[in-house]
Amino acid sequence: MALSAQDQLKSDAAAAAVSLIQAQLDHDSVVGVGTGSTVNFFIDALADKKGHFRAAVSSSEASTERMRAHGITVLDLNDVNEIDYYIDGADESNEHLQLIKGGGAALTREKIVAAVAREFICIADDSKLVKVLGDFPLPVEVIPMARSYVARKLVALGGVPVYREGVVTDNGNHILDMQNFKIPNPIETERSINNITGVVTSGLFAMRPANVLLLGTKNGVKTQRA
Ligand code: A5P
Repeated sequence: MALSAQDQLKSDAAAAAVSLIQAQLDHDSVVGVGTGSTVNFFIDALADKKGHFRAAVSSSEASTERMRAHGITVLDLNDVNEIDYYIDGADESNEHLQLIKGGGAALTREKIVAAVAREFICIADDSKLVKVLGDFPLPVEVIPMARSYVARKLVALGGVPVYREGVVTDNGNHILDMQNFKIPNPIETERSINNITGVVTSGLFAMRPANVLLLGTKNGVKTQRA
């Protein structure tokens, strides 16, 4: 079945990520793998190289299941000292490769794997590149009993937190999506949200941005480095 135009761009970015890392992979390499529709294309492409690297570490149950279905070994992060590359999508990126992530509710595990990785390669179609982060509602993962308290604190920061009803993260927590919240100073905002008691993680990847952005465009995949 033919891909939609947007899916083709996602698939192109995913294929470019495999091309970028494949020459560096060896039998000790562990690849960090994110979550989402763009990453699903990456997982499918990575499956062809499964004899060329040791294993993957995954940021979600969904990605783990997809990789295992392809016969890719998935390790627990606690059994791994180093991750060469982390490949993941984004909901938005600015020109500094600071990101909003977590549309798929996997933000906390994504942030942990990104923290461990030597290089974070973000793959996306060009609709994700923005001047100022924040049109996409910023997800914040919260401990369930702290949800209302955290929501009041997020209002004080200037946003409109909306409870993502019916969603429980892989860690057993809830998600608040910050609407109407432009983020001109991402590092400062990330720190402020991290400081609220009861917040597990925000989907703002500013202190640890991507190192490389592979952006699928109708004129080919563009590579941006931070
Ligand atoms: C998952 O929690 C997210 O961070 C995804 O990486 C992000 O939502 C991008 O997803 P798509 O590739 O499906 O747009």
